[in-house]
Amino acid sequence: MIALESDIADPGQAAAGLARIGWAERSMPVLGLIREVFEREQPFKGLSVAACLHVTAETAVLANVVTAGGGRLHLAASNPLSTQDDIAAALAASPGITVHARAGVDRRTYYAHIHRALDAAPGLVIDDGCDLVNTLHTERPELLAGVRGGCESTTTGVVRLRRMAADGTLAFPMVAADASRTRRMFDNFSGTGQSVIDGIIRATNTLLAGKVVVVAGYGPCGGGIAERARGLGAQVIVTEVDAIRALDALMQGFRVLPMAQAARIGQVFVTAHPFWTGGAFGVRAHCSARRL
Ligand SMILES: NC(=O)c1ccc[n+]([C@@H]2O[C@H](COP(=O)([O-])OP(=O)(O)OC[C@H]3O[C@@H](n4cnc5c(N)ncnc54)[C@H](O)[C@@H]3O)[C@@H](O)[C@H]2O)c1
Repeated sequence: MIALESDIADPGQAAAGLARIGWAERSMPVLGLIREVFEREQPFKGLSVAACLHVTAETAVLANVVTAGGGRLHLAASNPLSTQDDIAAALAASPGITVHARAGVDRRTYYAHIHRALDAAPGLVIDDGCDLVNTLHTERPELLAGVRGGCESTTTGVVRLRRMAADGTLAFPMVAADASRTRRMFDNFSGTGQSVIDGIIRATNTLLAGKVVVVAGYGPCGGGIAERARGLGAQVIVTEVDAIRALDALMQGFRVLPMAQAARIGQVFVTAHPFWTGGAFGVRAHCSARRL
């Protein structure tokens, strides 16, 4: 509908971003196979696709599959803290893709970027946390009729979508990627398990061995994080509101406590359950500087 320009930090980083996308592609053979099919069958031919995803090298591989299938992709960042400016630059230089993402933007710009992606009047949406779909329903209802459906990437987004479906307000069908067993296995358990620990170590430069790590929530994400922290020698405490999952954590050898007790002795805290921050849900790591 509206011809959009990308809003990125630095177009000069495109070459660096392209190199990293190539590296990620080597570990994503399934998307490579899907891309071959889409190139032949052109399922998105002429379709505008609005997406709100982490702007990382892995998302870039997905973005290229959308355009290989004939779609035009309008990408906003689902978390300004995960946006990789070199990847945004590389994607913005790719045919058929506009990118609205800069690392570290404030809440106002975050939502402005979502609106810019929606300005393309999408026929399909891809979301990660439901902010794009929620904005579409609450602030851009005139676009709803043109949307055929979409896909939600994460557990929290599915929670929000289920609420909308129960209220009767969800205007189009959404596929829950999280319902895929392989997604829960690879991304939630193994992927988040690794990346949360990686993030804590990079941010704190601390040795986890011997530390008391408290993981709140023992779903696939919390389970993966707890396993990895234990593997590095941490003493892991799990807090859980679901009795069966709490029991599961106990049977896996973790100490299970109410947060009121864990908070007294923990040194690193990871929230691995849906929570609301006024704009986003997700996994958060909190480190107590006093104790570290
Ligand atoms: N790459 C990423 O950043 C990434 C990837 C996958 C999932 N996520 C997010 O991580 C979170 C967890 O995902 P999941 O698939 O493990 O979810 P899940 O819903 O399967 O598990 C969450 C667990 O937390 C428990 N819980 C809820 N409130 C709690 C509380 N106050 N205290 C203790 N436990 C509580 C629930 O009982 C449940 O067992 C979600 O917000 C999801 O959107 C992020």
